[in-house]
Amino acid sequence: MPEKRVVLANCGVIDPEDVASYIERDGFKALKKALKLPGEQVVEEIKASGLRGRGGAGFPCGLKWDLARKAQGDEKYVICNADEGEVGTFKDRYILENDPFSLVEGIAIAGHATGANKAYIYLRAEYHFLLDLLEKAIAQAKKKGFLKHLDIEIRQGAGAYVCGEESALMDSIEGKRGEVRYRPPFPPTKGLWGKPTIINNVETLMNIPRIVLKGAKWFGGMGTERSKGTKVFSVSGDVAKPGVYELVLGSSLKELVEDLALAKKVQAVQVGGATGRIIPGDMLDTPLSFETILGAGAVTVFNESRDMIDIVHRTLEFLAEESCGKCAPCREGTEAMAGILERFSKGEGLEKDITVLGELADTMMLASMCGLGQAAPIPVMDSLQHFRGAYDNRIRQS
Ligand SMILES: Cc1cc2nc3c(=O)[nH]c(=O)nc-3n(C[C@H](O)[C@H](O)[C@H](O)COP(=O)(O)O)c2cc1C
Repeated sequence: MPEKRVVLANCGVIDPEDVASYIERDGFKALKKALKLPGEQVVEEIKASGLRGRGGAGFPCGLKWDLARKAQGDEKYVICNADEGEVGTFKDRYILENDPFSLVEGIAIAGHATGANKAYIYLRAEYHFLLDLLEKAIAQAKKKGFLKHLDIEIRQGAGAYVCGEESALMDSIEGKRGEVRYRPPFPPTKGLWGKPTIINNVETLMNIPRIVLKGAKWFGGMGTERSKGTKVFSVSGDVAKPGVYELVLGSSLKELVEDLALAKKVQAVQVGGATGRIIPGDMLDTPLSFETILGAGAVTVFNESRDMIDIVHRTLEFLAEESCGKCAPCREGTEAMAGILERFSKGEGLEKDITVLGELADTMMLASMCGLGQAAPIPVMDSLQHFRGAYDNRIRQS
């Protein structure tokens, strides 16, 4: 199946520094339409579309908006998560660089739909070079009179992976050290400064103007039963054509990595970043959907020359380094797993280590406070399932 550019429709087509070129391509038409409707009708349309969050967790967007809309609060907030700290992800950067206006329009519609009059874009520290462009896009939209109901402010991160997690992100905006919060309460009822807040990924918000303009039915016509629309993927690693690709959900991993990115002799593909699933090369017909594998859309390809244990070891070292440390299962579990994997890398693994990795995984998945610790064992357990022989070889050496 070829690429289908819905979210990326304007990328490389409009001038990201000139709002006129966006308006020429139906820019801000969806916002004008939404502003004429009651907020709850807009929420209903998003609900009906089946749009799910593109930042990793896949939570239904309309449901989140509905909760925030109905929540009591004198003030409400919209946050656009542009932290994009996930390993191997660079699709939000491509979107921000090429079509900042669609994002501003999506945020403006979200504000109207939920009753928020203040929005923040939380921008990854390393994307500081995009600050001027984004500020320019907001200023131009404001000058054209599109942001009368909503003030949009940009806040920059300071380089912590965990600050992409929504509750740590809110702490960071509030000026605190970014640490995960206990939940419930969830952000739609008690979020930023204790007020009802919706947090959405850049790509999720990019879909909003398209849905408002073309309708939930059109959007629901693409994808699978529980994964509607398209998904933007960042493909890197052992491929001839790394880059950003947009496909209808349900397309296969093979179509993405072999047909489009031209990967050869694939040993494994990690889908979803550092905590993503590891799919072996003989399972490339796996569909890309929320029902199977997805995450934020990071796709890293490893060819047959790669050492899978070394890859998983380095991944766990990264996660141990980036754990915020608030909960013991994540703080201690990622360290312990990284330590065991280091021994395997050196050929010093023990048979009983395999059992310990399984026990650590069970505890971390059950008891960690956020997705970092809950999902950190995924690549370890997947590598054990699909590449057990590599572990057994390292045991024999000891
Ligand atoms: C450790 C960690 C890092 C995350 N990083 C990001 C990120 O960089 N960008 C993002 O949109 N979501 C990230 N998320 C997911 C957010 O917590 C949240 O689910 C998302 O912003 C919600 O938006 P969505 O519903 O539109 O996907 C991260 C989650 C975890 C656990």
